[in-house]
Amino acid sequence: MRKIILAGNWKMHKNQAESLEFVQAFKPEIDNTDESREIVLCAPFTSLTVMSKNLHGGRIKLGAQNIHWEDKGAYTGEIAGGMLAEIGVDYVIVGHSERRQYFGETDETVNFRLKAAQRHHIIPILCVGETKQQRDAGETENVIIDQLKKDLVDVDRGNLVIAYEPIWAIGTGDTCDANEANRVIGIIRQQLDNKDVTIQYGGSVKPDNIDEIMAQPEIDGALVGGASLDPISFARIVNYQ
Ligand code: PGA
Repeated sequence: MRKIILAGNWKMHKNQAESLEFVQAFKPEIDNTDESREIVLCAPFTSLTVMSKNLHGGRIKLGAQNIHWEDKGAYTGEIAGGMLAEIGVDYVIVGHSERRQYFGETDETVNFRLKAAQRHHIIPILCVGETKQQRDAGETENVIIDQLKKDLVDVDRGNLVIAYEPIWAIGTGDTCDANEANRVIGIIRQQLDNKDVTIQYGGSVKPDNIDEIMAQPEIDGALVGGASLDPISFARIVNYQ
């Protein structure tokens, strides 16, 4: 059975007070949300501890936005899996295009981070996707198949979420057509032996397009940036119809 997962990626937004304010406003909005929908908030590192205390035992799961592959060591500025696990982090985003684009993340380091997350019983959300240039050149399928092949070396397919995030659709308001997202996600699924992996769509997901996205047979959820920053907006996404 494929699990439906709606995850918010707050990126570098919200201090501790703002994070708690969000949670307070968001919780009542999901009182009647179907239990089968997993809800995840991927907060900045500095908010994880207070959020974990606040969310403890509830239905909202906690996510981080990066994880280092070593368990400890001289890696200034990095966070180890054990540190995240101690706080009670359930998910971690790995290989987001912003990490790949601005922070030198490669398929090799993505692979290391995926394995580190699994070692610490944290479910990684692996992001893959093509640039506009690659799409226009007809390379979308090849780019994604190549990312999956490299990123997933020795990665357990049983504890994994994948997010298809076309880079040109992230933060641009330019959503990928729902049928096209469904098609690419179908191709991603073909590459996996485990057909039960949750595969999300990400890229300008909003309250007004979530219903159409979730109506697609291959799409098992969404990774939401901008529209997850407001509790009412993210609640509408989680409560898609
Ligand atoms: P967006 O971001 O929803 O603001 O386009 C999505 C993401 O980066 O995961």
